[in-house]
Amino acid sequence: MQAQLQSLDTSIERRIHFLLRSTEDALEFDGPNVVEGLSSTPKRLSSVYVYDKRGTELFELQCGTPEYYLRRVETRLLNSHAGDIVRQCGFPAIVELGAGTAEKTRILLAEYASCGAHCDYFPIDVDLETLAVCARRLASAFPLVSLHCLGTTYDKGLRAIPLHASPKLFLFLGSSLGNMEWREIDVLLSRLFESGAHGDYLLIGADLDKDPMIIDRAYNDSSGYGPRSTLNILHHLNQRYRGDFIVDNFRYRSRYDSRAKRNEVRIESLEHQTVTLASLACTVSFDANEMIDAEVMLKFDPDELAAVLDRAGFAMVRRWIDPVYRYGLFLLRHN
Ligand SMILES: C[S@@+](CC[C@H](N)C(=O)[O-])C[C@H]1O[C@@H](n2cnc3c(N)ncnc32)[C@H](O)[C@@H]1O
Repeated sequence: MQAQLQSLDTSIERRIHFLLRSTEDALEFDGPNVVEGLSSTPKRLSSVYVYDKRGTELFELQCGTPEYYLRRVETRLLNSHAGDIVRQCGFPAIVELGAGTAEKTRILLAEYASCGAHCDYFPIDVDLETLAVCARRLASAFPLVSLHCLGTTYDKGLRAIPLHASPKLFLFLGSSLGNMEWREIDVLLSRLFESGAHGDYLLIGADLDKDPMIIDRAYNDSSGYGPRSTLNILHHLNQRYRGDFIVDNFRYRSRYDSRAKRNEVRIESLEHQTVTLASLACTVSFDANEMIDAEVMLKFDPDELAAVLDRAGFAMVRRWIDPVYRYGLFLLRHN
């Protein structure tokens, strides 16, 4: 029994490789960017700092709230259409941007497994701790999956995908594409295009414009997990840069701008205060009620999104849109 367990453990470990495990200085939004963001008007902090182990746990709790329809609806769409996706794409290597806990990726991996197909899976994520735990869980649940983990940013992860990993299905779920400004989306899509080859696929989960009440509720859940996950930016900065943010001195603010089709999340300073990030030699003053731009959640128009993707070299193959919650899965082919 002991020997069997040991050999199972070895088989799991053998199928997990870390291609990149960046330390903090490899983060795209590094110390100088934090200082620059806190010195600008209005002040801003990158949402990438939501995600350390604690931030991901809070995000997962938010995903389980009744108000946060995004996870529920995307899971439903994937459960209904995983078979169609695999029939269309075959069994390519999967490269996932912002894999997180990869809960929904399991639906696709189960589809591969049910056909007895091997899968080379390349999860990219800045949250190294979550990535390591998730890799072990997947390797143990799916004996035909080999994991090639990239603990880094989207851009650096995509650059590090080996050329022999082809054909590929790029996955970008959770409407994480909407956590970027349009100019950043253009840059990322051109990086994705360069990382792929003719015949590769891209599957995007994207939240669509809808009744603002539904969106407002999703980002102001009654359990408070959404607000706490955003405020985790301050905890994370305290840890990473020896900071002294007193998190209770700040408040979460979320507002949907239906004209611009974007939910904007800010962190409000509740009083006049000064904060130091010792390792960045940075001291910043906040006025009472001063806002820090922290997160954006774009809510797409499906045709506009298709046009942007088309310009970036990805042709629409299929799209599945939930008619009630207006959330879409978009399957595209690299031209
Ligand atoms: C909104 S969560 C989505 C997680 C998961 N894909 C889902 O659909 O539930 C975004 C994930 O992307 C990761 N992430 C955010 N910005 C990133 C970046 N610039 N590079 C790499 N990973 C990033 C976070 O750590 C987090 O796991």
